[in-house]
Amino acid sequence: MTVRPATTTLLAAALAWGPSPPAHAADTTITQQLNHWSAQAGAPGDAARGRTFFDARHGGEWSCASCHGMPPTGSGRHASTGKTIAPLAPAANPKAITDTARVDKWFRRNCRDVLSRECTPAEKADVLAFLAALR
Ligand code: HEC
Repeated sequence: MTVRPATTTLLAAALAWGPSPPAHAADTTITQQLNHWSAQAGAPGDAARGRTFFDARHGGEWSCASCHGMPPTGSGRHASTGKTIAPLAPAANPKAITDTARVDKWFRRNCRDVLSRECTPAEKADVLAFLAALR
């Protein structure tokens, strides 16, 4: 079968992760997010490193697991408000990590809460690799 150039271009465009897709639900997958942050970091995310990062307090009061649970395949519980949080792992929650703007917003907010700074691309790639590997 011959693949016409136009088809190849369309396919490449469909596979590329755009930085600002339309803001609607289910605009991304965890694999696309993982690939994006791995590319930003210049190295693939590491699930084992992501697990350690997720469970560590980083010198503060909370870890990511304080609210999301460990492993985050079950419901979490907000460490200060007590509100239930839907499972973070896509294996347990098909809606998890499906909205780029939402993922960016919560990464920013939660990383500040836990680390008093934003997470680096490498840290995001590691956390996403950890979440993607959970079954
Ligand atoms: C103080 C509680 C708290 C802590 C600590 C916390 N989170 Fe969250 N996180 C939340 C809440 C609440 C949401 C929104 C959940 C919802 O609405 O379903 C959320 C959402 C997220 C999302 C978006 C999920 C999605 O499907 O869009 C990501 C990614 C995330 N958190 C990662 C982290 C990481 C990484 C850490 C550690 C650096 C962390 N969180 C620490 C409370 C927390």
